[in-house]
Amino acid sequence: MKDKPVILVVDDQPQNIELLEAYLVPQGYEIVKAANGEEALGKLAGNPIDLILLDVMMPGIDGFEVTRRVRQDENTRLLPIILVTALREKEDRVRGIEAGCDDFVSKPVDKIELLARVRSLLKVKAYNDLLTNYRNELELRAHLLDSATDSIFLHDVEGNFIYVNEAAYKTRGYTKDELMAINLHELDTPEYAGLIEPNIEYLINHGEAPFESAHLNKDGSVMPVEIHAHILNINGKKQILSVIRDITERKKTEEIIQASLKEKETLLKEVHHRVKNNMQVISSLLHLQALNIRDKDALAMLKDSQSRIQSMALVYNKLYQSRNLASIDMSDYIEELTGGLIKSYTHNPDRVTASIDPSDVFLGIDTAIPCGLVINELVTNSLKYAFPENRTGKIAISLKEGGNQELELVVSDNGVGIPEGINMEKSSTLGLKLVTNLVREQLDGKIELDGSQGTTFKITFHRAKEKK
Ligand SMILES: Nc1ncnc2c1ncn2[C@@H]1O[C@H](COP(=O)(O)OP(=O)(O)O)[C@@H](O)[C@H]1O
Ligand SMILES: [Mg+2]
Repeated sequence: MKDKPVILVVDDQPQNIELLEAYLVPQGYEIVKAANGEEALGKLAGNPIDLILLDVMMPGIDGFEVTRRVRQDENTRLLPIILVTALREKEDRVRGIEAGCDDFVSKPVDKIELLARVRSLLKVKAYNDLLTNYRNELELRAHLLDSATDSIFLHDVEGNFIYVNEAAYKTRGYTKDELMAINLHELDTPEYAGLIEPNIEYLINHGEAPFESAHLNKDGSVMPVEIHAHILNINGKKQILSVIRDITERKKTEEIIQASLKEKETLLKEVHHRVKNNMQVISSLLHLQALNIRDKDALAMLKDSQSRIQSMALVYNKLYQSRNLASIDMSDYIEELTGGLIKSYTHNPDRVTASIDPSDVFLGIDTAIPCGLVINELVTNSLKYAFPENRTGKIAISLKEGGNQELELVVSDNGVGIPEGINMEKSSTLGLKLVTNLVREQLDGKIELDGSQGTTFKITFHRAKEKK
Protein backbone atom coordinates (compact mmCIF):
# COMPACT_ATOMS: atom_id res chain seq x y z
CA MET A 1 0.00 0.00 0.00
CA LYS A 2 1.25 3.44 -0.91
CA ASP A 3 1.66 6.36 1.52
CA LYS A 4 -1.72 7.73 0.54
CA PRO A 5 -4.37 4.95 0.56
CA VAL A 6 -6.63 4.99 -2.51
CA ILE A 7 -10.37 4.52 -2.00
CA LEU A 8 -12.76 3.74 -4.84
CA VAL A 9 -16.11 5.41 -4.15
CA VAL A 10 -18.99 4.00 -6.17
CA ASP A 11 -22.45 5.64 -6.23
CA ASP A 12 -25.00 6.59 -8.91
CA GLN A 13 -25.85 9.79 -6.98
CA PRO A 14 -23.14 12.44 -7.48
CA GLN A 15 -24.08 14.23 -4.24
CA ASN A 16 -23.43 11.00 -2.26
CA ILE A 17 -19.96 10.79 -3.79
CA GLU A 18 -19.32 14.45 -2.96
CA LEU A 19 -20.30 13.87 0.64
CA LEU A 20 -17.96 10.90 1.05
CA GLU A 21 -15.19 12.85 -0.69
CA ALA A 22 -15.66 15.73 1.75
CA TYR A 23 -15.20 13.29 4.66
CA LEU A 24 -12.26 11.34 3.25
CA VAL A 25 -9.97 13.74 1.40
CA PRO A 26 -9.14 15.88 4.48
CA GLN A 27 -8.03 12.64 6.21
CA GLY A 28 -5.31 12.15 3.58
CA TYR A 29 -7.08 9.56 1.40
CA GLU A 30 -7.04 9.66 -2.36
CA ILE A 31 -10.38 9.18 -4.08
CA VAL A 32 -11.22 7.42 -7.32
CA LYS A 33 -14.87 7.83 -8.40
CA ALA A 34 -17.28 5.61 -10.31
CA ALA A 35 -20.94 6.33 -11.11
CA ASN A 36 -22.06 2.70 -11.55
CA GLY A 37 -21.00 -0.96 -11.18
CA GLU A 38 -19.61 -1.22 -14.71
CA GLU A 39 -17.42 1.83 -14.31
CA ALA A 40 -16.27 0.61 -10.88
CA LEU A 41 -14.98 -2.69 -12.33
CA GLY A 42 -13.19 -0.76 -15.07
CA LYS A 43 -11.49 1.56 -12.56
CA LEU A 44 -10.39 -1.46 -10.48
CA ALA A 45 -8.54 -2.91 -13.42
CA GLY A 46 -6.51 0.23 -14.00
CA ASN A 47 -5.81 1.63 -10.51
CA PRO A 48 -4.07 0.40 -7.38
CA ILE A 49 -7.15 0.53 -5.14
CA ASP A 50 -6.88 -0.19 -1.40
CA LEU A 51 -10.58 -0.16 -0.40
CA ILE A 52 -14.04 0.14 -2.03
CA LEU A 53 -16.96 2.12 -0.68
CA LEU A 54 -19.81 0.64 -2.63
CA ASP A 55 -23.42 1.74 -3.03
CA VAL A 56 -25.85 -1.20 -3.21
CA MET A 57 -28.74 0.00 -5.29
CA MET A 58 -27.51 1.12 -8.67
CA PRO A 59 -28.89 0.80 -12.18
CA GLY A 60 -27.13 -1.99 -14.14
CA ILE A 61 -24.79 -4.10 -12.04
CA ASP A 62 -25.73 -3.62 -8.40
CA GLY A 63 -23.44 -3.56 -5.35
CA PHE A 64 -23.91 -7.27 -4.57
CA GLU A 65 -22.87 -8.28 -8.07
CA VAL A 66 -19.85 -5.95 -8.06
CA THR A 67 -18.80 -7.54 -4.76
CA ARG A 68 -19.10 -11.05 -6.20
CA ARG A 69 -17.02 -10.15 -9.26
CA VAL A 70 -14.34 -8.47 -7.17
CA ARG A 71 -14.06 -11.61 -5.06
CA GLN A 72 -13.76 -13.84 -8.12
CA ASP A 73 -10.85 -11.92 -9.57
CA GLU A 74 -7.50 -13.29 -8.39
CA ASN A 75 -6.06 -9.75 -8.23
CA THR A 76 -8.81 -8.20 -6.09
CA ARG A 77 -9.86 -11.25 -4.09
CA LEU A 78 -8.71 -9.80 -0.78
CA LEU A 79 -9.67 -6.15 -1.41
CA PRO A 80 -11.78 -4.75 1.49
CA ILE A 81 -15.31 -3.74 0.48
CA ILE A 82 -17.67 -1.61 2.58
CA LEU A 83 -21.25 -1.57 1.38
CA VAL A 84 -22.83 1.85 1.82
CA THR A 85 -26.52 1.17 2.08
CA ALA A 86 -29.84 2.63 3.06
CA LEU A 87 -31.21 -0.89 3.42
CA ARG A 88 -31.55 -1.96 6.96
CA GLU A 89 -33.23 -5.21 6.32
CA LYS A 90 -31.44 -8.11 7.88
CA GLU A 91 -31.76 -10.21 4.78
CA ASP A 92 -29.99 -7.61 2.64
CA ARG A 93 -27.07 -7.59 5.02
CA VAL A 94 -26.94 -11.35 4.78
CA ARG A 95 -26.89 -11.05 0.98
CA GLY A 96 -24.01 -8.63 1.25
CA ILE A 97 -22.00 -10.96 3.50
CA GLU A 98 -22.70 -13.88 1.21
CA ALA A 99 -21.50 -11.86 -1.76
CA GLY A 100 -18.24 -11.29 0.16
CA CYS A 101 -18.32 -7.77 1.55
CA ASP A 102 -16.37 -6.99 4.69
CA ASP A 103 -18.47 -4.31 6.40
CA PHE A 104 -21.46 -1.98 6.15
CA VAL A 105 -22.05 1.72 6.58
CA SER A 106 -25.64 2.96 6.74
CA LYS A 107 -27.02 5.95 4.92
CA PRO A 108 -27.15 8.70 5.93
CA VAL A 109 -23.46 8.24 6.56
CA ASP A 110 -22.13 9.09 9.98
CA LYS A 111 -18.67 10.60 9.53
CA ILE A 112 -17.07 9.16 12.68
CA GLU A 113 -18.37 5.68 11.99
CA LEU A 114 -17.27 5.81 8.36
CA LEU A 115 -13.74 6.87 9.19
CA ALA A 116 -13.41 4.24 11.92
CA ARG A 117 -14.48 1.42 9.59
CA VAL A 118 -12.29 2.69 6.75
CA ARG A 119 -9.22 2.86 9.03
CA SER A 120 -9.74 -0.59 10.42
CA LEU A 121 -10.21 -2.23 7.01
CA LEU A 122 -7.21 -0.40 5.53
CA LYS A 123 -5.14 -1.91 8.34
CA VAL A 124 -6.36 -5.37 7.34
CA LYS A 125 -5.50 -4.55 3.74
CA ALA A 126 -1.96 -3.58 4.78
CA TYR A 127 -1.50 -6.92 6.59
CA ASN A 128 -2.83 -8.77 3.59
CA ASP A 129 -0.40 -6.97 1.33
CA LEU A 130 2.45 -7.90 3.65
CA LEU A 131 1.41 -11.55 3.69
CA THR A 132 1.11 -11.58 -0.10
CA ASN A 133 4.64 -10.21 -0.37
CA TYR A 134 5.96 -12.86 2.01
CA ARG A 135 4.16 -15.59 0.11
CA ASN A 136 5.61 -14.36 -3.20
CA GLU A 137 9.06 -14.22 -1.66
CA LEU A 138 8.72 -17.75 -0.29
CA GLU A 139 7.51 -19.04 -3.64
CA LEU A 140 10.47 -17.42 -5.35
CA ARG A 141 12.89 -18.99 -2.88
CA ALA A 142 11.32 -22.42 -3.24
CA HIS A 143 11.59 -22.01 -6.99
CA LEU A 144 15.25 -21.02 -6.73
CA LEU A 145 16.03 -24.03 -4.53
CA ASP A 146 14.22 -26.34 -6.92
CA SER A 147 16.02 -25.02 -9.96
CA ALA A 148 19.44 -25.79 -8.39
CA THR A 149 21.14 -28.82 -9.94
CA ASP A 150 22.83 -29.64 -6.63
CA SER A 151 20.80 -31.42 -3.97
CA ILE A 152 19.87 -29.36 -0.93
CA PHE A 153 18.99 -31.03 2.37
CA LEU A 154 17.87 -29.53 5.62
CA HIS A 155 17.84 -32.05 8.46
CA ASP A 156 18.09 -32.17 12.23
CA VAL A 157 21.08 -33.54 14.11
CA GLU A 158 19.41 -37.00 14.25
CA GLY A 159 19.29 -37.11 10.46
CA ASN A 160 15.53 -36.52 9.99
CA PHE A 161 14.82 -34.47 6.90
CA ILE A 162 13.04 -31.14 7.26
CA TYR A 163 13.39 -30.01 3.67
CA VAL A 164 14.73 -31.48 0.41
CA ASN A 165 14.78 -29.69 -2.93
CA GLU A 166 13.71 -31.18 -6.23
CA ALA A 167 17.20 -32.26 -7.30
CA ALA A 168 17.58 -34.12 -3.98
CA TYR A 169 14.79 -36.60 -4.64
CA LYS A 170 14.81 -36.64 -8.44
CA THR A 171 18.50 -37.49 -8.84
CA ARG A 172 18.09 -40.33 -6.35
CA GLY A 173 14.96 -41.69 -8.02
CA TYR A 174 12.58 -40.95 -5.13
CA THR A 175 9.43 -38.90 -4.83
CA LYS A 176 9.64 -36.04 -2.36
CA ASP A 177 7.55 -37.91 0.24
CA GLU A 178 9.64 -41.07 -0.10
CA LEU A 179 12.89 -39.20 0.49
CA MET A 180 11.45 -37.17 3.38
CA ALA A 181 10.52 -40.46 5.10
CA ILE A 182 14.11 -41.78 4.95
CA ASN A 183 16.69 -40.98 7.62
CA LEU A 184 20.05 -39.65 6.50
CA HIS A 185 21.72 -42.70 8.04
CA GLU A 186 19.89 -44.96 5.59
CA LEU A 187 20.81 -42.76 2.65
CA ASP A 188 24.56 -43.11 3.06
CA THR A 189 26.25 -46.33 1.98
CA PRO A 190 27.26 -48.50 4.96
CA GLU A 191 30.93 -47.51 4.66
CA TYR A 192 30.01 -43.83 5.09
CA ALA A 193 27.00 -44.13 7.41
CA GLY A 194 29.34 -44.62 10.38
CA LEU A 195 30.94 -41.24 9.66
CA ILE A 196 27.69 -39.28 10.00
CA GLU A 197 27.85 -39.03 13.81
CA PRO A 198 31.46 -37.79 13.96
CA ASN A 199 30.79 -35.43 11.04
CA ILE A 200 27.78 -33.89 12.79
CA GLU A 201 29.88 -33.62 15.96
CA TYR A 202 32.53 -31.80 13.91
CA LEU A 203 29.90 -29.50 12.39
CA ILE A 204 28.50 -28.58 15.78
CA ASN A 205 32.01 -27.54 16.86
CA HIS A 206 33.14 -25.84 13.66
CA GLY A 207 29.97 -24.44 12.07
CA GLU A 208 30.65 -25.69 8.58
CA ALA A 209 32.69 -28.29 6.74
CA PRO A 210 33.10 -30.15 3.46
CA PHE A 211 32.72 -33.93 3.41
CA GLU A 212 32.85 -36.72 0.88
CA SER A 213 30.35 -39.52 0.99
CA ALA A 214 28.37 -41.92 -1.17
CA HIS A 215 24.58 -42.03 -1.31
CA LEU A 216 22.34 -44.91 -2.20
CA ASN A 217 19.80 -44.25 -4.92
CA LYS A 218 16.36 -45.84 -4.84
CA ASP A 219 17.43 -48.45 -7.40
CA GLY A 220 20.40 -49.45 -5.21
CA SER A 221 23.04 -47.76 -7.34
CA VAL A 222 25.65 -45.64 -5.57
CA MET A 223 26.29 -41.95 -6.15
CA PRO A 224 29.59 -40.51 -4.91
CA VAL A 225 28.95 -37.03 -3.51
CA GLU A 226 30.71 -33.99 -2.19
CA ILE A 227 28.89 -32.24 0.65
CA HIS A 228 29.18 -28.69 1.95
CA ALA A 229 27.33 -28.58 5.25
CA HIS A 230 26.49 -25.70 7.57
CA ILE A 231 24.99 -25.75 11.00
CA LEU A 232 21.97 -23.47 11.46
CA ASN A 233 20.24 -22.40 14.64
CA ILE A 234 16.53 -22.31 13.91
CA ASN A 235 14.21 -21.45 16.84
CA GLY A 236 16.92 -22.59 19.25
CA LYS A 237 17.29 -25.97 17.53
CA LYS A 238 20.38 -27.04 15.62
CA GLN A 239 19.71 -27.99 12.01
CA ILE A 240 22.06 -28.88 9.22
CA LEU A 241 21.88 -27.43 5.74
CA SER A 242 23.82 -29.40 3.15
CA VAL A 243 24.50 -28.66 -0.48
CA ILE A 244 25.39 -31.91 -2.17
CA ARG A 245 27.05 -32.40 -5.52
CA ASP A 246 27.03 -35.56 -7.55
CA ILE A 247 30.70 -36.28 -8.33
CA THR A 248 30.22 -39.48 -10.31
CA GLU A 249 31.73 -37.94 -13.44
CA ARG A 250 34.66 -36.45 -11.54
CA LYS A 251 35.41 -39.80 -9.90
CA LYS A 252 35.31 -41.52 -13.27
CA THR A 253 37.68 -38.95 -14.76
CA GLU A 254 39.99 -39.30 -11.77
CA GLU A 255 40.08 -43.04 -12.24
CA ILE A 256 40.87 -42.66 -15.93
CA ILE A 257 43.67 -40.19 -15.16
CA GLN A 258 45.07 -42.48 -12.47
CA ALA A 259 45.03 -45.45 -14.80
CA SER A 260 46.67 -43.47 -17.57
CA LEU A 261 49.32 -42.17 -15.17
CA LYS A 262 50.03 -45.69 -14.01
CA GLU A 263 50.36 -46.80 -17.62
CA LYS A 264 52.77 -43.94 -18.42
CA GLU A 265 54.82 -44.77 -15.33
CA THR A 266 55.12 -48.38 -16.38
CA LEU A 267 56.17 -47.26 -19.81
CA LEU A 268 58.76 -44.84 -18.47
CA LYS A 269 60.12 -47.50 -16.17
CA GLU A 270 60.39 -49.82 -19.13
CA VAL A 271 62.26 -47.16 -21.12
CA HIS A 272 64.74 -46.47 -18.31
CA HIS A 273 65.29 -50.18 -17.95
CA ARG A 274 65.97 -50.65 -21.65
CA VAL A 275 68.36 -47.71 -21.86
CA LYS A 276 70.28 -49.18 -18.94
CA ASN A 277 70.35 -52.59 -20.59
CA ASN A 278 71.56 -51.16 -23.88
CA MET A 279 74.34 -49.30 -22.13
CA GLN A 280 75.36 -52.48 -20.41
CA VAL A 281 75.48 -54.22 -23.76
CA ILE A 282 77.82 -51.50 -25.07
CA SER A 283 79.96 -51.85 -21.97
CA SER A 284 80.17 -55.64 -22.45
CA LEU A 285 81.12 -55.17 -26.09
CA LEU A 286 84.01 -52.95 -25.03
CA HIS A 287 85.01 -55.55 -22.48
CA LEU A 288 85.00 -58.32 -25.09
CA GLN A 289 87.01 -56.14 -27.45
CA ALA A 290 89.56 -55.53 -24.72
CA LEU A 291 90.21 -59.26 -24.38
CA ASN A 292 92.00 -59.26 -27.74
CA ILE A 293 94.05 -56.12 -27.21
CA ARG A 294 97.65 -56.34 -26.03
CA ASP A 295 98.57 -52.64 -26.19
CA LYS A 296 98.53 -51.25 -22.63
CA ASP A 297 97.49 -47.69 -23.61
CA ALA A 298 94.72 -48.89 -25.87
CA LEU A 299 93.53 -51.24 -23.10
CA ALA A 300 93.46 -48.39 -20.58
CA MET A 301 91.44 -46.24 -22.98
CA LEU A 302 88.91 -49.01 -23.47
CA LYS A 303 88.64 -49.46 -19.73
CA ASP A 304 88.03 -45.72 -19.22
CA SER A 305 85.33 -45.72 -21.88
CA GLN A 306 83.72 -48.71 -20.28
CA SER A 307 83.61 -47.02 -16.89
CA ARG A 308 82.13 -43.83 -18.41
CA ILE A 309 79.31 -45.88 -19.91
CA GLN A 310 78.81 -47.68 -16.61
CA SER A 311 78.47 -44.37 -14.80
CA MET A 312 75.68 -43.39 -17.21
CA ALA A 313 74.01 -46.80 -17.04
CA LEU A 314 73.96 -46.42 -13.26
CA VAL A 315 71.90 -43.21 -13.58
CA TYR A 316 69.24 -45.11 -15.51
CA ASN A 317 69.35 -47.96 -13.07
CA LYS A 318 68.76 -45.58 -10.17
CA LEU A 319 65.99 -43.79 -12.07
CA TYR A 320 64.29 -47.08 -12.73
CA GLN A 321 64.40 -47.86 -9.04
CA SER A 322 63.38 -44.40 -7.86
CA ARG A 323 59.80 -43.93 -6.74
CA ASN A 324 58.99 -40.88 -8.82
CA LEU A 325 60.94 -42.02 -11.91
CA ALA A 326 62.19 -38.49 -12.46
CA SER A 327 64.92 -37.80 -9.92
CA ILE A 328 67.88 -39.59 -8.44
CA ASP A 329 69.09 -39.71 -4.87
CA MET A 330 72.66 -38.58 -5.51
CA SER A 331 74.29 -39.85 -2.30
CA ASP A 332 73.00 -43.28 -3.14
CA TYR A 333 74.27 -42.94 -6.69
CA ILE A 334 77.73 -41.62 -5.68
CA GLU A 335 78.11 -44.41 -3.14
CA GLU A 336 77.52 -47.10 -5.74
CA LEU A 337 79.56 -45.40 -8.48
CA THR A 338 82.60 -44.89 -6.23
CA GLY A 339 82.39 -48.41 -4.82
CA GLY A 340 82.45 -49.83 -8.37
CA LEU A 341 85.42 -47.67 -9.39
CA ILE A 342 87.48 -48.65 -6.33
CA LYS A 343 86.83 -52.30 -7.07
CA SER A 344 87.84 -51.96 -10.68
CA TYR A 345 90.95 -49.71 -10.28
CA THR A 346 92.51 -51.06 -7.07
CA HIS A 347 93.25 -54.68 -6.33
CA ASN A 348 93.12 -54.25 -2.59
CA PRO A 349 89.85 -52.55 -1.64
CA ASP A 350 91.29 -51.31 1.69
CA ARG A 351 94.20 -49.44 0.13
CA VAL A 352 92.12 -46.43 -0.94
CA THR A 353 88.94 -45.60 0.91
CA ALA A 354 86.26 -43.14 -0.07
CA SER A 355 84.10 -41.13 2.28
CA ILE A 356 80.91 -39.67 0.96
CA ASP A 357 79.31 -36.78 2.79
CA PRO A 358 75.67 -37.81 2.92
CA SER A 359 73.41 -35.13 1.59
CA ASP A 360 69.86 -34.90 0.42
CA VAL A 361 70.47 -33.86 -3.13
CA PHE A 362 68.09 -35.22 -5.77
CA LEU A 363 68.82 -34.51 -9.41
CA GLY A 364 66.89 -34.93 -12.62
CA ILE A 365 68.38 -37.00 -15.38
CA ASP A 366 69.75 -34.03 -17.39
CA THR A 367 71.86 -32.92 -14.44
CA ALA A 368 72.61 -36.34 -12.99
CA ILE A 369 74.29 -37.70 -16.15
CA PRO A 370 76.93 -34.94 -16.61
CA CYS A 371 77.41 -34.74 -12.84
CA GLY A 372 77.95 -38.52 -12.68
CA LEU A 373 80.45 -38.40 -15.55
CA VAL A 374 82.42 -35.63 -13.82
CA ILE A 375 82.59 -37.61 -10.58
CA ASN A 376 83.59 -40.68 -12.58
CA GLU A 377 86.55 -38.83 -14.17
CA LEU A 378 87.79 -37.21 -10.98
CA VAL A 379 87.53 -40.33 -8.81
CA THR A 380 89.15 -42.44 -11.54
CA ASN A 381 92.06 -39.97 -11.67
CA SER A 382 92.51 -40.07 -7.90
CA LEU A 383 92.53 -43.86 -8.01
CA LYS A 384 94.98 -43.97 -10.92
CA TYR A 385 97.42 -41.18 -10.09
CA ALA A 386 97.13 -39.91 -6.52
CA PHE A 387 98.50 -42.95 -4.79
CA PRO A 388 101.36 -44.43 -6.84
CA GLU A 389 103.33 -47.49 -5.75
CA ASN A 390 100.44 -48.99 -3.84
CA ARG A 391 100.23 -46.17 -1.34
CA THR A 392 97.19 -45.97 0.88
CA GLY A 393 94.93 -42.92 0.76
CA LYS A 394 91.57 -41.32 1.06
CA ILE A 395 89.13 -39.83 -1.35
CA ALA A 396 86.34 -37.54 -0.14
CA ILE A 397 83.26 -36.58 -2.10
CA SER A 398 80.50 -34.20 -1.13
CA LEU A 399 77.57 -32.76 -3.02
CA LYS A 400 75.53 -30.04 -1.36
CA GLU A 401 72.87 -27.50 -2.09
CA GLY A 402 74.38 -24.05 -1.81
CA GLY A 403 72.64 -20.72 -1.74
CA ASN A 404 71.26 -19.18 -4.89
CA GLN A 405 70.03 -22.54 -6.17
CA GLU A 406 73.63 -23.55 -6.74
CA LEU A 407 75.06 -26.97 -6.13
CA GLU A 408 78.56 -27.57 -4.89
CA LEU A 409 80.48 -30.73 -5.70
CA VAL A 410 83.85 -31.33 -4.02
CA VAL A 411 86.07 -34.27 -4.98
CA SER A 412 89.38 -34.43 -3.16
CA ASP A 413 92.16 -36.86 -2.38
CA ASN A 414 95.13 -36.72 0.00
CA GLY A 415 97.54 -38.05 -2.62
CA VAL A 416 100.69 -36.81 -4.35
CA GLY A 417 98.99 -33.84 -5.95
CA ILE A 418 98.38 -33.00 -9.55
CA PRO A 419 101.59 -32.24 -11.51
CA GLU A 420 102.43 -28.57 -12.05
CA GLY A 421 101.67 -27.31 -15.49
CA ILE A 422 98.38 -29.14 -15.88
CA ASN A 423 96.00 -26.57 -17.29
CA MET A 424 92.32 -27.40 -16.90
CA GLU A 425 91.31 -24.90 -19.54
CA LYS A 426 93.65 -26.25 -22.20
CA SER A 427 94.02 -29.86 -21.17
CA SER A 428 95.07 -32.10 -23.99
CA THR A 429 94.09 -35.22 -22.10
CA LEU A 430 90.55 -36.47 -22.48
CA GLY A 431 89.57 -36.87 -18.81
CA LEU A 432 90.10 -33.28 -17.69
CA LYS A 433 88.91 -31.95 -21.05
CA LEU A 434 85.68 -33.88 -20.57
CA VAL A 435 85.30 -32.48 -17.05
CA THR A 436 85.84 -28.91 -18.27
CA ASN A 437 83.36 -29.29 -21.11
CA LEU A 438 80.65 -30.97 -19.07
CA VAL A 439 80.86 -28.40 -16.28
CA ARG A 440 80.86 -25.46 -18.60
CA GLU A 441 78.39 -26.57 -21.20
CA GLN A 442 75.97 -28.91 -19.51
CA LEU A 443 76.09 -27.81 -15.90
CA ASP A 444 76.56 -24.08 -16.41
CA GLY A 445 79.22 -24.13 -13.68
CA LYS A 446 82.83 -23.39 -12.83
CA ILE A 447 85.79 -25.40 -11.53
CA GLU A 448 88.31 -24.49 -8.90
CA LEU A 449 91.41 -26.64 -8.54
CA ASP A 450 93.37 -26.58 -5.30
CA GLY A 451 96.66 -28.51 -5.36
CA SER A 452 98.08 -27.28 -2.05
CA GLN A 453 97.40 -30.54 -0.23
CA GLY A 454 96.66 -33.52 -2.37
CA THR A 455 94.17 -32.57 -5.04
CA THR A 456 90.83 -30.84 -4.52
CA PHE A 457 88.33 -30.03 -7.24
CA LYS A 458 85.48 -27.75 -6.25
CA ILE A 459 82.75 -27.43 -8.82
CA THR A 460 79.78 -25.09 -8.45
CA PHE A 461 76.98 -25.61 -10.94
CA HIS A 462 73.25 -25.32 -11.61
CA ARG A 463 70.52 -27.80 -12.26
CA ALA A 464 69.81 -28.21 -15.93
CA LYS A 465 66.54 -26.52 -16.87
CA GLU A 466 63.83 -29.06 -17.33
CA LYS A 467 63.18 -29.75 -20.97
CA LYS A 468 59.66 -29.06 -22.09
N1 LIG B 1 94.04 -36.62 -8.50
C1 LIG B 1 95.21 -36.58 -9.19
N2 LIG B 1 96.40 -36.78 -8.59
C2 LIG B 1 97.52 -36.73 -9.30
N3 LIG B 1 97.57 -36.52 -10.61
C3 LIG B 1 96.45 -36.34 -11.28
C4 LIG B 1 95.22 -36.35 -10.61
N4 LIG B 1 94.26 -36.11 -11.53
C5 LIG B 1 94.84 -35.96 -12.69
N5 LIG B 1 96.18 -36.09 -12.57
C6 LIG B 1 97.12 -35.91 -13.64
O1 LIG B 1 96.51 -35.21 -14.70
C7 LIG B 1 96.60 -35.92 -15.93
C8 LIG B 1 95.44 -35.66 -16.79
O2 LIG B 1 94.34 -36.40 -16.39
P1 LIG B 1 93.25 -36.78 -17.41
O3 LIG B 1 92.90 -35.56 -18.17
O4 LIG B 1 92.14 -37.42 -16.65
O5 LIG B 1 93.91 -37.79 -18.41
P2 LIG B 1 94.23 -39.34 -18.21
O6 LIG B 1 93.50 -39.78 -17.01
O7 LIG B 1 93.69 -39.93 -19.43
O8 LIG B 1 95.68 -39.37 -18.07
C9 LIG B 1 96.81 -37.33 -15.50
O9 LIG B 1 97.54 -38.04 -16.47
C10 LIG B 1 97.56 -37.21 -14.22
O10 LIG B 1 98.95 -37.07 -14.48
MG1 LIG C 1 91.55 -39.46 -16.35
